Amino acid sequence: MSQYDNPDFFASYKLMKRSQDGLAGAGEWHELKNMIPDLNGKRLLDLGCGYGWHCIYAAQQGASKVVGIDLSQKMIQQAQETNNAPVIDYECCGIEQYSYPKDTFDVVISSLAFHYIASFSDICANVKQTLVNGGDFVFSVEHPVFTAHGSGDWIYDENGKPKYWPVDRYSMEGERHPNFLGHDIKKYHKTLATYVNTLINHGFTLTKFVEPLPEGLKEICTLNNGSEPLPDLPEAMYDEGRRPMMLLISAKLTK
Ligand SMILES: C[S@@+](CC[C@H](N)C(=O)[O-])C[C@H]1O[C@@H](n2cnc3c(N)ncnc32)[C@H](O)[C@@H]1O
Repeated sequence: MSQYDNPDFFASYKLMKRSQDGLAGAGEWHELKNMIPDLNGKRLLDLGCGYGWHCIYAAQQGASKVVGIDLSQKMIQQAQETNNAPVIDYECCGIEQYSYPKDTFDVVISSLAFHYIASFSDICANVKQTLVNGGDFVFSVEHPVFTAHGSGDWIYDENGKPKYWPVDRYSMEGERHPNFLGHDIKKYHKTLATYVNTLINHGFTLTKFVEPLPEGLKEICTLNNGSEPLPDLPEAMYDEGRRPMMLLISAKLTK
């Protein structure tokens, strides 16, 4: 069973800002959006589509065919209820099990799903098979600095404030069990070199690489070397500048 089909976990996920507000509630969307090519008339596959926010975006941008797959029945049901359109097909299927029909899609995207999968090489081989020559692959994952230690949480000071983010076992790739929304969730840590070199080895050319910050924070961080607390910022937002949480990559395939 998908971890997302656990009713308690799904109920907690439903309360997240990105579940309530869609892409407007996703802190990285202002960056990811710029990495997705023009979708007008394109065929797009979304791996781990969740509620289907990126699928409905693709449909609104004029995509001719959109397929969203997800392992969780609850997610697919939610996507069908919330983000349906005639050009979208939702399928309850694992990223590892999907058929990846040959030369069928112009664009493959995935948002925050690949860290649930052990082999990034298998993903790249499958994406290569299903993309047309010159196709685009755009995805986000939890950043390797974020996933390395495996607790999924800060080390706190005596006042309960985040003291630092632990980075440990960085080169030891594999299973981790961070606390996510109060649950022990299985994820897989991979190094930055694995993400980049696996893409290159499968014939992809990187076109953009982003470690996103909430809108506006990048400019403020640039003006401040980090030795002083940043003025007039909610602490939770300031903390986003203390360690990378996500990694966004876009790449083009040459077959
Ligand atoms: C953090 S959510 C992101 C959902 C969506 N892409 C978004 O950005 O709103 C991760 C999604 O990956 C899905 N997922 C996890 N493991 C998967 C797998 N092996 N195959 C397909 N989907 C998977 C989960 O069910 C969940 O919907």
